[in-house]
Amino acid sequence: MALPQTKSLFLLFPLLVSPFIPTIFGENPSEFSKTIDVPEEPMRRQKLTSLHFYFHDIVSGRNATAVPVTKPPNPSSFFGVIMMMDDPLTEGPDPNSKPVGRAQGMYASAALEELGFMQAMNLYFTAGKYNGSVLTVLGRNAPMHPIREMPVIGGSGLFRFATGYALARTHWVDLKTGDAIVEYNVTVMQSSPVLVG
Ligand SMILES: *[C@@H]1O[C@H](CO)[C@@H](O)[C@H](O)[C@H]1NC(C)=O
Ligand SMILES: *[C@@H]1O[C@H](CO)[C@@H](O)[C@H](O)[C@H]1NC(C)=O
Ligand SMILES: *[C@@H]1O[C@H](CO)[C@@H](O)[C@H](O)[C@H]1NC(C)=O
Repeated sequence: MALPQTKSLFLLFPLLVSPFIPTIFGENPSEFSKTIDVPEEPMRRQKLTSLHFYFHDIVSGRNATAVPVTKPPNPSSFFGVIMMMDDPLTEGPDPNSKPVGRAQGMYASAALEELGFMQAMNLYFTAGKYNGSVLTVLGRNAPMHPIREMPVIGGSGLFRFATGYALARTHWVDLKTGDAIVEYNVTVMQSSPVLVG
């Protein structure tokens, strides 16, 4: 009786240890990056919010909402220019449509080979339930590209714990003055601990 059992265990032995062979002999995972799955946390609440609005970057005239605060070190290039903005955000592309907030921050020309900005801004909402809430965006914006993506790195007020991304597409541009209207779709995920008590 004992012999067949021992024999079948012996036959199973390679199957039992094979999953551990890479561990034993070293799997050589990449030194550069490694991703692991983290178990879900049941005590968290998640929600996804989408926002759609238009951004009005007025750089010309007396009512400019974006102004250069540095001169380009090399006059034949835009590299090094920093623009400070307080740009209106509206519900529709028409500048007279319902205001929903302001984009306050700056965009700095940070690419030598093309027009490319490092954009850092607070989307300060002033309409409806988001009045007073802020989303903070920090990313790369190359305005000649059809669609630009910038990370949403945080938020305050109703946007606490927010992370996400903003997609921007130029809706209209006046190539003579540089004034532009940009369509934005912002998607944010909020994953917050369920606060008890
Ligand atoms: C600036 O805004 C004022 C008030 O809205 C307006 O009357 C004026 O025409 C604007 N000026 C320019 C140069 O756009
Ligand atoms: C937004 O909040 C401010 C300050 O509480 C208030 O003065 C303003 O009227 C509000 N705006 C809207 C559109 O609700
Ligand atoms: C924003 O979303 C709308 C609706 O899905 C879409 O029509 C539009 O092309 C999007 N724009 C950008 C800049 O992602």
